[in-house]
Amino acid sequence: MTSFNIGKISVYDDNIDDMNVIKNIIQVNDQEDAFYILDVECIVRQHQKWCSAMPKVSPHYAIKCNPDQTVIEVLASLNCKFDCASKQEMQQIIQTGVSSDRIIYSHPAKPHSHIKYAKKIGVKTMMVDNTLEVLKIKEIYPDAKLVIRLSIDSGSYGIKMCKKFGCKINTEVITLMNFIKNEKMFLRGFSFHLGSPCSDADSYNRGIEICKNLLDVAKNMGFDEINLINIGGGIPGDDDESFYKIAKAVNKALENLDPSIEVISEPGRYYVVSAFTLVTFIQSKRIIDGEVMKRCYFINDGIFGSFLDKIIAAPLYVPIPLCNRGGKLFKSLIWGPTCHPTDSVIDDVMIEDLSIGDWIVWQNMGSYTICTASSFNGFAPSAVYPIIRKTGLETLLNDINEIQNLKSIDNYVKEDILEKIEDKNLFITHEVPQIM
Ligand SMILES: Cc1ncc(COP(=O)(O)O)c(C=O)c1O
Repeated sequence: MTSFNIGKISVYDDNIDDMNVIKNIIQVNDQEDAFYILDVECIVRQHQKWCSAMPKVSPHYAIKCNPDQTVIEVLASLNCKFDCASKQEMQQIIQTGVSSDRIIYSHPAKPHSHIKYAKKIGVKTMMVDNTLEVLKIKEIYPDAKLVIRLSIDSGSYGIKMCKKFGCKINTEVITLMNFIKNEKMFLRGFSFHLGSPCSDADSYNRGIEICKNLLDVAKNMGFDEINLINIGGGIPGDDDESFYKIAKAVNKALENLDPSIEVISEPGRYYVVSAFTLVTFIQSKRIIDGEVMKRCYFINDGIFGSFLDKIIAAPLYVPIPLCNRGGKLFKSLIWGPTCHPTDSVIDDVMIEDLSIGDWIVWQNMGSYTICTASSFNGFAPSAVYPIIRKTGLETLLNDINEIQNLKSIDNYVKEDILEKIEDKNLFITHEVPQIM
C-alpha cells in the first residue's frame, strides 16, 4: 500500500507567496544554512498535466533526477510509476510501498548484484544495448524482460544521451534481436532517450516511428509478445509551450498504434524542475577595486552542491534577492562556499548592492541538484522544506482519493491532516512576519 507522511509538509494559506514562505522558514528556524522549498502542488499539477496531455503515455518518474522522498511519496500516491537506475533507487521505491510491477530498471550497464536484487523483488523490465549485457542478465535472471535501448539523437538537447548508451539502428539492432532470440530471452520492446533536456518535438515523433518499424520487424522474427515503446526522458518542465508541442507530436505518432502496444516514458526534470526553489545566504562579501569595480558574494551553496549542473548542462541561473531593495545595479560575481576556484556559481551578473546576511533565491532548481551534491569542504547538501497551499492540498487529497478510492490510502493520515486544517493549527501559517 502506498501512503505518505503528509504531516511533514507545511501547509500555507493560498495568499502567502513563495517569498513570504521563505521569510517564514528563515525566521522560524533561525535559518543560516541554504535550503530548498519544495512546492508539492507543482508536482501534482505536472502529473495532472501529463495525464491529460498524453493519456496514452504512462510516465515512470526517473528518480535519478531528484530522489527527494516527498516527491516519491506524492507521485507514488498518484499512481505514477518509476524508472530506476540502481539497486539503491529500486530499494527506495519499494520501501515507499510501491509494487515491483510499477518499476523499470533502465540502466543499460548493470552491476551483477543489482540484477540479483531486481530478481529478488520482481522488477522484470530492464534495458540492454549489447550482447554481453544480455548474457549477464540471462545468467542471473533468465525471466527478465529485455528492452533494447536505441541510439536515437536529437539535434537539439542539453546533454547528449546516446553518446554513452544505445544500439545503432542501422548496424546493431537486428544483430542484437537475433542474439536475444537465439538465447531464448524475452524481448519486451524498444526505448530511446533523445537528450536532456530535449524540446524538439519532431525527434520524439521520429523516435516513435523507428520503434514502430522495429516492433513490426520483431513480430516477423517471432517475438510474439513484444509490446513496449519507451520514449525516455528529456521533456522540459519549465516550458509549457515545448511540452504541449511534444505532447501533440507524440499523440500524433501514436494515433494508429496497435492498442496492445504499451507506451511509457521516463520523465525526470519534467516533474521536479519548477517545484524546487533554492535559498542561499550571503556569508561573505569582497569588493575588487580594479579597472572595473566588482562585487564578489560568497554564498553557502555552490558547484560542489546544488550548482554542479553549471558544468554539465549550463542552465541559466538567475539570482533574485529575497528582499529586493532596488537601486543601482553593479557588476558582480557569485561564488560557492568552498575554497576551490572552480566553485563559481555566476561569473558575471549585474545585480543590486547586497550585504552579508542577505538571502538570494534561485528558482527552477529541482533537477540534477540535490542528487549530485557533495559535502566537499564540509558543506552539507541543502535541506528541503516541503510546502503546499491549502487549495493545493485539497486537490492532492481529492486526486489521491479518486485514484486510490479511499480504501488503500491511510485514512487516519487524511483525517489527521484535515482535522489540523480545521483547527488551523501549526501546519498553517497565517501571518508571516517581515524579517528584513
Ligand atoms: C535512462 C534515462 N531515463 C530518463 C532520464 C531522465 O531524463 P530527464 O531528467 O531529462 O527527463 C535519464 C537522465 O539521465 C536517463 O538516463
